[in-house]
Amino acid sequence: MQISENNNPHYQRIGGDEKIRALVQRFYQLMDELPETHGIRKMHAADLKGAEEKLFMFLSGWMGGPQRYAEQFGHPRLRQRHMPFSIGDSERDQWMMCMNQAMDDVIEDEALRKELTAAFQKVADFMRNQ
Ligand code: HEM
Repeated sequence: MQISENNNPHYQRIGGDEKIRALVQRFYQLMDELPETHGIRKMHAADLKGAEEKLFMFLSGWMGGPQRYAEQFGHPRLRQRHMPFSIGDSERDQWMMCMNQAMDDVIEDEALRKELTAAFQKVADFMRNQ
């Protein structure tokens, strides 16, 4: 599922581990704080640290960096792993709201933000099971 448009993968362009960490931290902070995304917040455990670490590991590989998630947990099978949760248009939009705002806050490069928005949108659409 690697998404690189050229020889410089998204992992390098975003700024490697440090920026991906900042992105996932901001993403879950927003999910925790925004009243609009309370619906998906309550699907998660009280402590978001585990989810944050897994998303960091996944995005590292997905952006073309170290394949941390696959090495530890095997093939992501993301759709299957999301089956226990009821995900429709509203939940997808809540997830994208957190991610788009987190990207606005953390990623300076506008072209990169646009590419990642389109790529995240595809995965989020695919995650719907309702
Ligand atoms: C579309 C709306 C989505 C909802 C409502 C949602 C919700 C969730 C929930 C509730 C969990 C379990 C967290 C926990 O362990 O406490 C989870 C796990 C996860 N999500 Fe999502 N998610 C969505 C989309 C996405 C997308 C688009 C991605 C990737 C780009 C993603 C990546 C992951 C990963 C990597 C995990 C960890 C899986 C595991 O190993 O258990 N999710 N998600």
